Amino acid sequence: MVNVSPRSIVSVLALLLGPLIYIGHEKISIDIPSGVAPVPGPVHRLQEYLRIRTDHPNPAYEEAQTFLNETVRSLLPNVSVSVHTYVEGKSVLVITLPGTQPHLASLLLNSHTDVVPSEEAKWQWPPYSAKTVFRDGELRIYARGSQDMKSVGLQYLEALAELAQKNWIPKRTIHVSFVPDEEIGGRDGMGKFVESPEFDALNVGVALDEGLPRDDGKFNVYYGERRTWWLAVKVNDNPGHGATLPDRTASNTLNKIIANALAFREKQVKRLKQGVDPGYIIGVNLAYLKAGHPDEEMASGFVMNVIPSVSEAGFDIRVPPTVHNTDVEQEIESWFMCDEKEKCPGVSYDWVMKVETDVMTSRDPSENTFITPFMNGMKNSGIEDQLSHGIFPAATDSRYIRKKGIPCFGFSPINRSPDLLHKHNEYLPVDTYMRGIRIYENLIQELGDHQSVSVKVEDENGNGVLSSTPVHESESEEKQDL
Ligand SMILES: *[C@@H]1O[C@H](CO)[C@@H](O)[C@H](O)[C@H]1NC(C)=O
Ligand SMILES: *[C@@H]1O[C@H](CO)[C@@H](O)[C@H](O)[C@H]1NC(C)=O
Repeated sequence: MVNVSPRSIVSVLALLLGPLIYIGHEKISIDIPSGVAPVPGPVHRLQEYLRIRTDHPNPAYEEAQTFLNETVRSLLPNVSVSVHTYVEGKSVLVITLPGTQPHLASLLLNSHTDVVPSEEAKWQWPPYSAKTVFRDGELRIYARGSQDMKSVGLQYLEALAELAQKNWIPKRTIHVSFVPDEEIGGRDGMGKFVESPEFDALNVGVALDEGLPRDDGKFNVYYGERRTWWLAVKVNDNPGHGATLPDRTASNTLNKIIANALAFREKQVKRLKQGVDPGYIIGVNLAYLKAGHPDEEMASGFVMNVIPSVSEAGFDIRVPPTVHNTDVEQEIESWFMCDEKEKCPGVSYDWVMKVETDVMTSRDPSENTFITPFMNGMKNSGIEDQLSHGIFPAATDSRYIRKKGIPCFGFSPINRSPDLLHKHNEYLPVDTYMRGIRIYENLIQELGDHQSVSVKVEDENGNGVLSSTPVHESESEEKQDL
């Protein structure tokens, strides 16, 4: 690859086209101020990683692994690289930097290598070209995965390389894991990995995983996440001729249930608008609607003169750790009431997913000895007063780690940038990326040298517990008739 700095390309363009060019309707300044440094080496490596097509549904995991292996070999020649395969084509890559006191529980730095798909036509710059663009006074890398979370994966490596340059050797062993499939639930990725003997052998005491960007000056740190409940509702009733008016139809009944659910949703929207953090709000969205008899001959694609006997809807519900299961279950039961006393007729439901318990990472130093070195790392970066401590509103691989009783901090060092996860034109400013490497240097140094040995105990199910909440996850289909 020929390394022409974007700045020189832009300068040539500037001479040819004058100081401004127009892309779409937006005016973009291409005059890069003289103070802007050329794109540094770590950014070139990130661009290369972002160009690997690890988007679903066919992520190029092997290509990513080859790239990561080579990058590790050039940045950190003395570390070991191992590959664990639990599902064919979906290996987990683990890099290990041995500590001087290997009896101490290790530090795990986790990232996922997959990214969500993108609608390329709606992007201003192609999502897999990782272009650097000077815009709104800053140089940015536009790419799918620039925030979520290829940046974080390489920042770990760059920070470790910087520390190795300074001849720092950690007391705790450090592992860096690159896992597949987080964006599709992680069951074949981190889900399988945490249950393996190889994971147990890492003796992980504390972990870092992804967080979310903020557009103000603060940084998000997450200690838990909302539980995912996917509810599939089905109403059965009599079919009929479309010219008749039966008292009841399956779709009419479903409509009442949906109205009840959306009325509850409205209350949550109101709380959100009042400024309640999304991590503390019960999320409800209608995920699908299904009824009718398909007919390709019809302009609508459906038979038009038959009242369908089955009508279905799916809901994506997210439950904060601060809310009890029974309270949400009662709420959902009330959606199935067609009037004050009567349950709706013909209703049944399945749980497509129902995560019933969660483990929070404690912020109490007596329960989580890593809170002190974590905060010290933040202090060394001068950002300990800029942290917003909360609950991640969606699900990440952190839940698998916490389920093992391991404290896990959800953190991505991105502030003053909009949250563009899964959106068009995802980008990361170059300065934010470089500053993030320094933040990780401080965090890794503090966590890696922290001396206090945490005692890990096991509950009756063999799960490690540092947190007091037991863990069970049911993702099975529990059919219940009402
Ligand atoms: C990493 O690279 C080394 C040297 O090229 C090679 O021997 C090894 O098999 C590679 N490992 C993986 C996981 O790609
Ligand atoms: C790498 O390991 C070799 C052999 O153990 C050692 O001589 C060298 O100093 C190490 N390099 C670094 C950067 O740690």
